[in-house]
This record gives sequence, structure tokens and C-alpha cells, in this order.
Amino acid sequence: MRVTQLAAACLLALASTTTATQIPQDHVLWGPGGSAGATLHNVRRATSSVAPSSTSKTSSVAPSSTSKVADAACTNGPTSRNCWSSGYSVLTDFDKKWPTTGNTVQYTLTVTNTTCNPDGNGDRICFLYNGQYPGPTIEANWGDTVQVTVVNKLTGNGTVIHWHGIRQLNTNAMDGVNGITECPIAPGDTKVYTWKATQFGTTWYHSHYSSQYGDGLIGAIKINGPASANYDVDLGPYPVNDWYYSTADQLNVIASNNLQQGQPPPPADTLLINGKNKSPGGAGAYDQVQLTKGKKYRLRLINTSVDNNIRVSLDNHQLQVITADLVPIKPYYTNWVLLAIGQRYDVIIYANQTVSNYWFRAEVATDCASSNNFYGRSVFSYAGAASGDPTTSAFTAPSGGCVEDKTLVPWVTNTVSSSDFINQVGNLNVDLAVEQVTTNGQNIVVWGVNVSAIDVDWRNPTLEYVKTGNTSYPSVLNLIELPTEGIWTYWIIQETPGTKVPIPHPIHLHGHDFYVLGTGSGTFDINSSPSTLTWNNPTRRDVALLPGAGWLAIAFQTDNPGAWLMHCHIAWHISEGLGVQFLEAKSQITLPGSDWDTQCTDWKTYYQNPVYQKTDSGL
Ligand SMILES: *[C@@H]1O[C@H](CO)[C@@H](O)[C@H](O)[C@H]1NC(C)=O
Ligand SMILES: *[C@@H]1O[C@H](CO)[C@@H](O)[C@H](O)[C@H]1NC(C)=O
Ligand SMILES: *[C@@H]1O[C@H](CO)[C@@H](O)[C@H](O)[C@H]1NC(C)=O
Ligand SMILES: *[C@@H]1O[C@H](CO)[C@@H](O)[C@H](O)[C@H]1NC(C)=O
Ligand SMILES: *[C@@H]1O[C@H](CO)[C@@H](O)[C@H](O)[C@H]1NC(C)=O
Ligand SMILES: *[C@@H]1O[C@H](CO)[C@@H](O)[C@H](O)[C@H]1NC(C)=O
Repeated sequence: MRVTQLAAACLLALASTTTATQIPQDHVLWGPGGSAGATLHNVRRATSSVAPSSTSKTSSVAPSSTSKVADAACTNGPTSRNCWSSGYSVLTDFDKKWPTTGNTVQYTLTVTNTTCNPDGNGDRICFLYNGQYPGPTIEANWGDTVQVTVVNKLTGNGTVIHWHGIRQLNTNAMDGVNGITECPIAPGDTKVYTWKATQFGTTWYHSHYSSQYGDGLIGAIKINGPASANYDVDLGPYPVNDWYYSTADQLNVIASNNLQQGQPPPPADTLLINGKNKSPGGAGAYDQVQLTKGKKYRLRLINTSVDNNIRVSLDNHQLQVITADLVPIKPYYTNWVLLAIGQRYDVIIYANQTVSNYWFRAEVATDCASSNNFYGRSVFSYAGAASGDPTTSAFTAPSGGCVEDKTLVPWVTNTVSSSDFINQVGNLNVDLAVEQVTTNGQNIVVWGVNVSAIDVDWRNPTLEYVKTGNTSYPSVLNLIELPTEGIWTYWIIQETPGTKVPIPHPIHLHGHDFYVLGTGSGTFDINSSPSTLTWNNPTRRDVALLPGAGWLAIAFQTDNPGAWLMHCHIAWHISEGLGVQFLEAKSQITLPGSDWDTQCTDWKTYYQNPVYQKTDSGL
């Protein structure tokens, strides 16, 4: 059930807009439970005549990208990063095959309610994994099984962990989305997540229990594998994110008060780089990275923000970008990288400048409607440099607007079939909507897709419907069935023309990478498609920006039975309802066993008399 906090959460969502936003009183109203909204669950995909995935792809070898072919004699090293081992390499089509190592890496993450003070500004309440911020990095090799035991020591919240970007092939119940793939882990309970690393590269894990990750529940995942350019040293994950001195719940109250006066929510207080920064008052410390002149370093950038897009740069050093999310790309050089929330870029830095200290900079992307009060800095020092803060100057910031710098070309070439685009394509319209609260008749603002704000029931996840064969999905589950495996599915995500809040949204899909067929401003023109879209080796990733007042066209193959959330990764927006779930090939989903049922029973018992009620979408 929604309560008035939703309005506050929405205001937070608008934190990133710089001008006051009017409540769209003239918007569609719908009754309790969203019954007048689009009944998304009635949408059924037509059966397709497109061939199954194996035949609709091009060759998995990309000879134009490299002359080195993977074989047992080709071993990963500083001058052969494209190799891996035993016939696997950066050329491998990881949709089709991955190494079987037989290894299982094990971690335990204990969630506690504690305090933290990452920039020296002062203690605040934080929820942490093993008392650390960011949480421990989970490291595995490509093809390993990862097993993580999560212990919930919070007394007043459930929790779950989503492994961002992990395909979860045959392990949908390990995706960590409460209300879709499991019930929350009740206070005092434990869950073991087990999944296979079928892709390699850099990603992260975080709570999906409302906006809980904004209070500290994040950590990096590093899956060792081949790469599309050479380097000497792997510096590891480097998370960059916005940070608030208040908790998400406190911000809700401030935002709610602001809303009454038509003001946007508060900006972030600062940015953290690898969990650190100096506070505006000068307390705290910069993260320090040591370089040796003449060496090449791989740095794994991750945007773990809740509301802010960030640009990063290292003074005097070009960044050679080699991956986008978990996808190796043709390397390119740039001075600044734009990180949308949830996105990752692995970059190589060549330490070929004068021995000295250099600023690493993180700035909010104000052209992406992001705002905050302070900037992020860390220090990269060459061995032999004198101590002290750098005195270097920044590269000129890009002026091209809130767009990814460049077309990102995947290393392994894939072709998306365009033949069924026109009769298969679906539309998803993103806008604010006004919802009437059942209990008091008050109208509140929410984010919706086709005017329906997703609102999951933690006690009755989608997989419970699948287990019991119940197809009476409430319309607020925003459930779209994809019954047919082995076809391409295409979606135009469109900001409603004339929307009062034309801001960019980082759209993230679970269970699949998607191909970005195109993006643009204004309204997508179906009549001139498909020739206006990219079909030959389009950018492939798991988060892409929907431009403000624009559209994003994506495609993915149905090759992974499961219930998969697709949502805006701005924490306040998914909290507010900006998401749908795809229920793919439900009869072929690998269903969870009795541990899963016990977790739900424990949650239902806890939720008979919870410390706090759910007040948002739950996601
Ligand atoms: C965390 O601790 C604070 C202060 O003791 C308490 O008010 C709050 O309910 C706790 N939250 C959770 C989720 O356990
Ligand atoms: C993180 O993503 C958010 C939202 O897309 C964006 O505003 C912010 O600039 C990104 N941060 C970095 C460091 O790129
Ligand atoms: C340093 O390396 C960059 C690539 O990272 C290259 O463009 C530049 O020319 C090199 N500079 C020197 C002085 O070697
Ligand atoms: C969303 O609304 C658009 C416009 O009315 C419609 O064409 C589309 O089919 C709807 N999408 C779904 C998934 O119902
Ligand atoms: C199916 O789900 C609906 C909605 O949650 C519920 O009202 C109904 O009781 C369920 N039916 C069965 C047979 O469990
Ligand atoms: C989680 O705990 C915080 C207090 O730490 C509380 O304000 C919030 O409402 C709780 N959320 C839920 C959904 O239980």
C-alpha cells in the first residue's frame, strides 16, 4: 500500500532537476491499484518466425579486431590480455560458452546497522556489509561459481542482494529482487546466493530493498578474464558515487516539506571516490593510488550513485576505455568518461607523464540534470614524487550534453535481426503520473511506465505465482509476458512528449545485456524505422541512458527464462515506480526449492508485525 511518503520520494527523484517542478494536476488519474492504468500483463508477444538465437547471430569470431585466436597455448599475460586459457579468449561469444573451472569462491556478507563517516564530515547511520564501506570486493575467475552467504543483522528492515549485470542463467531465484524473485530476508535470517560467472569484467552488488543501498549497502564484483587491450597492473574496482549526510528516510521528510512549496529535493552533499573524499570543511582524506612511471594500469570505474551522473578524469592522462559494463569493446581514448548510475567502464592509464602527483576528478554531470554541493577528488602519485596535494589542472570538460562520449563497439560482433522489428516492437512510455491513495483519497505523484507505477508485494513474489501456476497478476506488477524463447524482442522506451520533467533516466535490465539500437530526442519515428536504427554490432550493455524528452530503442534475445526487472536506476525513481518486469518463458524457469519457501514463511511471520511498513514500490 502506498502512503504519502511516495510524494516525498518523488521529490527526491526530482532532486536532480534544477528548477521547481509543478505537480502535473492535469495528468491521468487512476483508481486504487492502478486499475485504470494499462493492463500490462495482458500484453502477449506474438509468436515469431525469427530463427533461434544460435542461427540469428553472426560468427563469434571477430577477425577484424585481433589476429590472435584463442587456443590452449595462448595464456593471459601483460602482453596477451586478449588470451585467457584453454581455448577461451576475448573473442569467445560468452552468450554461448564459458570455461568450467570447477571452482567455487565463497564469501559471507553480514548486514549491520551502524555508523559511518566516509569523508570526515561526521558520523551518520549506515547499513554496511561486514562493517566496510564500500563492502568487500567479490573476486572470481571467469567460469567460477560464486557462493555468498548473506546474514541480515538489521532489526528493522529486510534485505536482499542483487548482483548487477550477472546473467543468472538457470538461477533466476538468485537475482536478489524482493517481490519478484524472492521474499526479503527477514531480520535475523540468512540466505545463500549461488550463481555462475558466465561473463567477466567489472560490476557491483547492492541491496534492492527499497532505497536501502543509498545507506551504504554496495560493493564491487571483479571477475577476472581476458581484455581488449594490454596493461601491466590491475588496480581493481574504483567506485564513484554521490553521498548524503542524511539517511534516505530523513531526506524523504525534507523532500516532502520542499514539495509543499514546489521546490526540488536536496542535492547530494558530496561525491565519494573509492568510498573516500575530504569534506568541504577539510576533514577526511583523499583516496591515494600509487603509480610507477612507464607502467600501464587498468582501473575499473563503477558508478554506484543513487541520483547523480558523474564525469571522471585524471589530469594529464588520457583514459583508454576497454569495456562498457560487462562487454569488452574496441578501445578508444578520451579525457573524460561519463558514468550513468549503475554503469561501469574499465580504463587503462599509461603512467608516461612527469613523476608527480595528479588529481583524479569526479564532477556531477550538470548537463544530465545532476546536482550536488561538492566535488570528488583522489590523488594518483608516481613513485618518487614529493608528498603533498597535486597542483595539476583539469582537462576541458566536454560540452556535448548528457550523452555517452562515443559509439561503443563490442569486441565480439553480433547482428540484431531487423526483420521482425515492425511487428514485434513494443512501446513503453515514461512519465510522471498522479496516483490516488486508497486510504485517504489524496493524490500523489509517482513515476510510471504507461501510467502504471510498479508496486511489488514482498510476501508474494512473481516466482510464487509461477510456482503455483497463478496467472492472476495484479496490474501494479507491470508484468509483461515474453512466452517465446529464441526470438528477438524490441522496446522503444519513450519519454512522453510534453512531459513536465524531461530528465535522463539510466535504464537497467536484469538477466540480459541489451543492444542499443538507437537513442534520440523528441518522439521516435516508427515510420522511418528500421533503417534509422543500428543493427550491425550495436552497443551492448546492461544500463543505457534514456535522454530527457527523448527515446531509447533496445533489443534483446529471449534466451534466459525468468522474471526480470527493467527499471530506472535512480534509486528514488524505481522507489517511485519507474519499472516493468518481463516474465520470460515461465514454464521453463528453474524453480527454487524449500529454502526459498522457508525464507518467505519467515518474512511473512516478521511482516505480521513489522518494525516499519513498506511505503514505496519495494524495489
Ligand atoms: C538502525 O538503528 C537505529 C538507531 O538505533 C534504529 O532507529 C533503526 O530502526 C535501525 N534500523 C534498522 C533497519 O534496523
Ligand atoms: C552516476 O550515474 C548518475 C545517474 O546516471 C550520474 O548522474 C552520475 O554523474 C554518475 N556518476 C559518475 C561518477 O559518472
Ligand atoms: C602517453 O600515453 C598516451 C596514451 O595513453 C599517448 O597518447 C601519449 O602520446 C603518451 N605521451 C608520451 C609523452 O609518451
Ligand atoms: C504502452 O502504451 C503505448 C501507447 O498507448 C502502447 O502502444 C503500448 O502497447 C503500451 N505498452 C504496453 C506494454 O502495454
Ligand atoms: C492468485 O493471485 C491473486 C493475486 O495475488 C490472489 O488474489 C489469488 O488468491 C491467487 N489465487 C490462488 C488460487 O492462489
Ligand atoms: C528501514 O529502516 C529504516 C530505519 O533504519 C526505516 O526508516 C525504514 O522505514 C525501513 N524501511 C522498511 C521498508 O522497512
